[in-house]
Parts: sequence; structure tokens; C-alpha cells
Amino acid sequence: MRKKLLLGNWKMNLLQAEAKVFAEASRALTQKAKAMNVMLGVAPTYLSLQTVKNANPELIVSSQDMHFEAKGAFTGEISAEMLADIGISWTLIGHSERRSYFGETNLSCNKKIKKALSLGFTVVYCVGETAKEYEENQTKQVILDQLTVGLQGVTEEEFQRIIIAYEPVWSIGTGLNASPEHAQDICSFIRKTLATLSSKSRAEAVQILYGGSVKPANVKAYLLQSDVDGALVGGASLTVESFEALLTQMA
Ligand code: 13P
Repeated sequence: MRKKLLLGNWKMNLLQAEAKVFAEASRALTQKAKAMNVMLGVAPTYLSLQTVKNANPELIVSSQDMHFEAKGAFTGEISAEMLADIGISWTLIGHSERRSYFGETNLSCNKKIKKALSLGFTVVYCVGETAKEYEENQTKQVILDQLTVGLQGVTEEEFQRIIIAYEPVWSIGTGLNASPEHAQDICSFIRKTLATLSSKSRAEAVQILYGGSVKPANVKAYLLQSDVDGALVGGASLTVESFEALLTQMA
């Protein structure tokens, strides 16, 4: 039985003091999530990772990205070793904003994923099609490529620490939700693809999240889909009130 997961992606939002206020207020939420058997986490900016972790050690605290090298002449970058050094063991990889604004490819994602997994991280690998790809009926081919290239070389043991977030690019921050049926169709396709990349039983255990304009009013419809195990939420994860409203809907 897969656990449900609610993960907030704060992107480039919240100053450290704001992150601390959120994390302190979220202590009651982590208790509530535990009682609901729901996993709860946020991905703050690098600068607030430690602040959030210290203020609520029960909350999953994920990085939004990392570099695949351990150290060296990579100005502006942060390595998995550096994240591990401050107690972080989760990271997003391949968010569509990383892909579109910072030139990330399936291959660079693969390097990051393998590096993170080798250090014991849990990786939330983000996949999804652009509006053009959606309109041209390319969604499944795009996702097949993202999964096949992104996950190449991942071992059977490491597969247990992979989570997939399906985020159609056209639905991120736009209010244009994918229908729950579309989310289910693609998440089911993702699970079938994972089975070919590992095994049916391993694929059955992978948590698959939907992301893209998820709000308290629509999150339940996604959770009712058999292959959707949770949500990766941007805008609606930025206040503790909205985050709590999302969690409440996950029962
Ligand atoms: P929104 O929930 O703001 O659409 O963002 C989704 C997202 O990109 C989460 O990673």
C-alpha cells in the first residue's frame, strides 16, 4: 500500500524569517499528517533548508535541485554532499522550470539522479509535457523519453527511493488544471513504464504525484485516481493555512 505524499515546492519564495514562521506553525500539521498516515514535506530555497529543518524536524525537507559533482569550479552551484552535510536527504530533480529556464536535459537530470541516489537521497523526479507537446499528442512519448533517459543506470535498490512528479508544463502556475482523468491516464502510463525499467512489483511501490495548479478545492479529485499518490504544489503551499487546507483534503 503506497503512502500519500503532500509536498510543497516553494520555488524562489519566502525569506528565511517567513520560512521559519511557516515551519514552526507546521508542527501541528506534521502531527495531523502522521495521524492521517500522509507524508508531508516542503522544498524551500537552499538558504532556508536548515532553518525549516531545525524549526520542524518532523517535516520532510527537500532541496529543489543540486549539482551532480561533489565540488569544484561550478560557480553558484550546491552539491549533494553539501546538502547531506546539513542533514538534507531529499531533492527534486528536473523541475520544468529548471528544464526551461536553466537548460536542464534528461541527460543532466540522469547525472543528478544517479549522484543523489548514490548518497542515499530520495529523489522526486519531475516529468511533464509542454503545451505544444500536449496539443500535438506527444505527451506519452515525451514522458517515455524523460523516464528512460532520466532513470538509466538506476539500480533495483535505488528504485525504492524514486518518486515521480507528473507536472504538465501548461498547468504549472496557470490555473489550467489537467483533468483528473488525464492525470490518471499519464500516471498509469508512468507506472507501466517504470515496470519496464525495473519490475512490476517495484513500479507498484513508487509514489507518483500530480502537480500543476493544485489547490485545496481540486486536490481530492486527483487523490481519488488510482495511480495518483499525492501532490507537488507550488503557489498553494506558500501559506500554512493553505497547506493545512490541502492536507485536510487528503484524508
Ligand atoms: P503551481 O502549484 O503553482 O501550479 O506549481 C506547481 C509546481 O510547479 C510544483 O512543483
